[in-house]
Amino acid sequence: MSTTDHLLEALEPVVAENLDRHLGLAQEWHPHDYVPWSEGRDFASMGGEDWSPEQSRLSETAKAAMITNLLTEDNLPSYHREIATRFGRDGAWGTWVGRWTAEENRHGIAMRDYLVVTRGVDPVELERARMDYMTSGYDSGDKTALEAVTYVSFQELATRVSHRNTGKVTHDPVADRMLARISKDENLHMVFYRNIVSAALEIAPDETMRAIADEVVGFEMPGATMAGFRRNSMIIAKAGIYDLRLHHDDVIMPILRHWNAFERTDLGAVGEQARDELATFLEGLDSQASRFVERRAEQRARTAARSETGETPDIAS
Ligand SMILES: [Fe+2]
Ligand SMILES: [Fe+2]
Repeated sequence: MSTTDHLLEALEPVVAENLDRHLGLAQEWHPHDYVPWSEGRDFASMGGEDWSPEQSRLSETAKAAMITNLLTEDNLPSYHREIATRFGRDGAWGTWVGRWTAEENRHGIAMRDYLVVTRGVDPVELERARMDYMTSGYDSGDKTALEAVTYVSFQELATRVSHRNTGKVTHDPVADRMLARISKDENLHMVFYRNIVSAALEIAPDETMRAIADEVVGFEMPGATMAGFRRNSMIIAKAGIYDLRLHHDDVIMPILRHWNAFERTDLGAVGEQARDELATFLEGLDSQASRFVERRAEQRARTAARSETGETPDIAS
């Protein structure tokens, strides 16, 4: 049996406990309750009118964020494969994999229905982008189960922040409510994975600290391989929907604090080394985030000075 298999087996009771906790806390909700169906109408193939840009009430920023978030959700079959091959299909791990997959699918359903019904984005472009991105799929590389569970702890919280702030820039109470609902799911997912990593730290502190350092240093959003990701993530960062400051302050640090990453006294040489690397990386990330926020504030001030109203509408934070 490999170390990973041992660890997965040792974590099984913690997974079972957290699965029960999750099922107790998760509230049932239905995508159809979050979509303004009365705004819907036929497209040309049914005798209606096809999409054109002026039909959308979303700004370019809101569109970029919604498309990025939806396409990210769409690649669920790849994520399912990634976690099912790492965590297995048996016992509590297997039940979690199925339940998590079912919950995630609801996010894509709600967002797509909203965008198509309200004509928020071009449905043809959206479908082509989905085909492209899903055809290439997502591959997390050769992560172990421990690295995967560590990565998703951060990733779930990152999607929570990103959905929540996307809701703010839509300036649409319907979209805001839907994205707030989805964010709650992402938060519960984060709590589940975070608790598994807490237990892993108790069982195998050095190995787990190594995984934490590697996943924080190498962190990349799952959508990084989709077409237009660099452009869209710049728009998303400029609007404060997701940027380095949020990544450091609201995603990485709260989880590391929860794990007592910097106060632990149970690390050996391997864990200490990993923690040092983590600390060095975080210092760099923090100053990079500060520089980004400074530059952005200058840019915003210049834009506000140029515009007559002084308004900067596309800002989440
Ligand atoms: Fe999701
Ligand atoms: Fe999630």
